[in-house]
Amino acid sequence: MKRFRLLLVGLLVFGLIFALTGCGGGDEAGEAPDAGEAEKLVIKAGTDAAYAPMEYKNEETGELEGFDVDLIKAIGEAVGLEVSVKHVDWDGLFPALESGDINCIISSMTITDERKEIVDFSEPYFEATQIIAVKEGSNIKGLKDLVGKKVGVQQNTTGHYAVEKIEGMKDEDIKKFPFTPDALINLTNGLVDAVVADAPVVLNYIKHNPDAGIVTVTDDFEKEYYGIAVKKGNKELLDKINEGLAKVKEDGTYDELYKKYFE
Ligand code: ARG
Repeated sequence: MKRFRLLLVGLLVFGLIFALTGCGGGDEAGEAPDAGEAEKLVIKAGTDAAYAPMEYKNEETGELEGFDVDLIKAIGEAVGLEVSVKHVDWDGLFPALESGDINCIISSMTITDERKEIVDFSEPYFEATQIIAVKEGSNIKGLKDLVGKKVGVQQNTTGHYAVEKIEGMKDEDIKKFPFTPDALINLTNGLVDAVVADAPVVLNYIKHNPDAGIVTVTDDFEKEYYGIAVKKGNKELLDKINEGLAKVKEDGTYDELYKKYFE
């Protein structure tokens, strides 16, 4: 059960040693600026862009799009910081932050106490909950009905953790996928009986795959809040991000984006 989290911690420790010893083969990128010449502050965001409508790749243009992508760009604009956004696989996000490949994560990442020990989060920018996706006609009506069923999750997400917590749930029945759409495709094909994932993404999948025969079931899931993560202690960037977030909420940009993606 704790294997994945252990792996994550292992990766982080490895990343840290790597960064501290500088054994990157003389690669200067991402190192502290030399005295005198201060490095220009920019936003280098990472996101697991297989999460429409929050973050996804436009297959025609190859560009990353989505609520989070637009939001971080708007935040950058509001505080005068250049923004780049790149795809990083979900499990690679913390290591990429640690290595300096990116300096923030905007990836529908729920603020949790465990994660707060690893990174610092911005003010919450989005409220979401988990939802259970099942095939039409399924007899699954809530979380406890998942015991004995095959349940798909994106590994190391809050959906995964919610399923792990169900009493009597066997780890071998939790099918862990690297990307949420993989879990939903497996549900569509009948290879798993249910998927537990963030509601906005499940609802978007159903909207775009009306023939998949998927419906949703709720339970008393806790509210979750997404935050933008920075490396622990990177107050300079975090302050800017919070400042920008407050500005875009105040000037109506946030509401416009919300309408664009959810209405
Ligand atoms: N909100 C969930 C979590 O923080 C899932 C987020 C997954 N994000 C993504 N882009 N795949 O664990």
